[in-house]
Amino acid sequence: MLGVLISNFKKILKLPSVVLKHRKAKQGKILKDLVFHDNPYLRAVGEAIQDCLKKEFSREEIKFINLIETRRSYLLRQNKKIKLTDYGAGLPNSKRTKVEMDEGVHSMEKISKIASASKSKFWATILFKIVRKLQPSSCVELGSCVGVSASYQAAALKLNSKGKIVTLEGSEEVATIASETLSNLELSNSSVVIGPFHQTLMEVFKNSDPIDLFFNDGHHDRDAVINYFEKVLPYLSKNAVIVIDDISWSPGMKSAWMEIENDPRVSASINLDSIGIALIQANVGTKEKFVIPL
Ligand SMILES: C[S@@+](CC[C@H](N)C(=O)[O-])C[C@H]1O[C@@H](n2cnc3c(N)ncnc32)[C@H](O)[C@@H]1O
Repeated sequence: MLGVLISNFKKILKLPSVVLKHRKAKQGKILKDLVFHDNPYLRAVGEAIQDCLKKEFSREEIKFINLIETRRSYLLRQNKKIKLTDYGAGLPNSKRTKVEMDEGVHSMEKISKIASASKSKFWATILFKIVRKLQPSSCVELGSCVGVSASYQAAALKLNSKGKIVTLEGSEEVATIASETLSNLELSNSSVVIGPFHQTLMEVFKNSDPIDLFFNDGHHDRDAVINYFEKVLPYLSKNAVIVIDDISWSPGMKSAWMEIENDPRVSASINLDSIGIALIQANVGTKEKFVIPL
């Protein structure tokens, strides 16, 4: 009896490695489909993911990544409290009303806590590599926070020797830190626009060159995500990429992503579980959906 129990226990312990192996094999197969795809945009995204998984970075890329990570570590050590005005959805179960999100929720928060909302190094480097491979000219980001993901994108643009990024942040004191981050890193190809998205977004879109890359990492509310998606569409370039963060963060975000990936204007989509990537390209034939559990 004890022997059977021990053997079952061992099987349970082994399960995660079997699951992991299966997951990796599945991941590898779908990635291969992307990396060898006919569509150069899908190929670029596939290569970006592959490079990050294999940790393939050039010396110049590593230099920038280290500089940004040093800045992140510095911010994560800052215990000073600053004024935060949050126009976002709060936590997945916050159930904030539209009025609360429009007017902003005020609090005092430690810089370290605010900085911890930045994309992790792994996901930020995925974004960095997407910019390196796609070579966009015009990028817009919603949700600067303290400037980590904007720095990754701006650094990639600088290494590409072309392109600029505008990043939007509602909380004024947080936006000031984002500006400092970008200027400390000498990323003059970037600018921060302060104010709630519903007040700043349209002006930014109108003043931008056709947008090649739109990264939505703020306001994780279903209706807001769909609203910003609809608003950005007329301002996108002919071959544009939309990246939406935290697509599995809440039932609302899952539903927003599902609606976007099924939208007929989206020519292809890649679901990485944490982020969703949607391609908006005209005349590309059958829509393709890729799911890569990273
Ligand atoms: C998850 S953080 C962004 C992290 C950042 N992209 C990074 O990885 O470094 C989201 C940011 O969006 C801002 N935000 C959320 N909803 C907003 C809104 N409706 N208008 C303006 N800013 C908003 C928040 O203040 C917060 O700083």
